[in-house]
Amino acid sequence: MLITRLYALVAIAPLVSSLPSVPSIMNKLKSIASRDDGCVYPLTYKITSLQVWTPTNGNSHPIVLDFQYDDDATHISTSCHYDGTQPNAGPEGFDPRYACEDPAVQFMWIQKTSMLSMIELVCPKNGKSDIEALDLFPPRLSCVDTTSNTPFGEGSQCFSLDFAVLRNFTTIDPVEPGPGGPPGK
Ligand SMILES: *[C@@H]1O[C@H](CO)[C@@H](O)[C@H](O)[C@H]1NC(C)=O
Repeated sequence: MLITRLYALVAIAPLVSSLPSVPSIMNKLKSIASRDDGCVYPLTYKITSLQVWTPTNGNSHPIVLDFQYDDDATHISTSCHYDGTQPNAGPEGFDPRYACEDPAVQFMWIQKTSMLSMIELVCPKNGKSDIEALDLFPPRLSCVDTTSNTPFGEGSQCFSLDFAVLRNFTTIDPVEPGPGGPPGK
């Protein structure tokens, strides 16, 4: 189940807060970019229309998540959706992540802490990259309970309190081998 597997991700949350500051990441990204003519690196992004439905204990319906993702610098504008039917877009042995319509953008929802983790491939070629930019944040949500006679059953339907959430990426990582990872590894 998504929820169980996502719990493991919670362990990385304390690490994220101690990651290097944005300027040092920008320097790293700029050095990557300088190796690659015309490569525009992801630094900031925008989330809009975020809504997430989560089941109560005992309701086995998967989480349902929707939002719009925009990165003006890399000209990515894509919608992101999860309802339990999407394949894991990440490497085996890691917490599952899911691709947006543009597979250069992936996400994880950490149920335990209500946090959204965003991932954008850095300068992908043919949909593959060696490096990805990451961020993790808790959206400000307003929630209402849903009952057993609603489409997904008993749970909580939450909407972002912010019309748009503007974020900076907080780290870059090598991409592990997997569907979105480096080819041939
Ligand atoms: C993103 O980075 C810019 C420039 O360093 C800063 O002014 C802004 O407050 C940051 N935004 C967030 C959400 O951290």
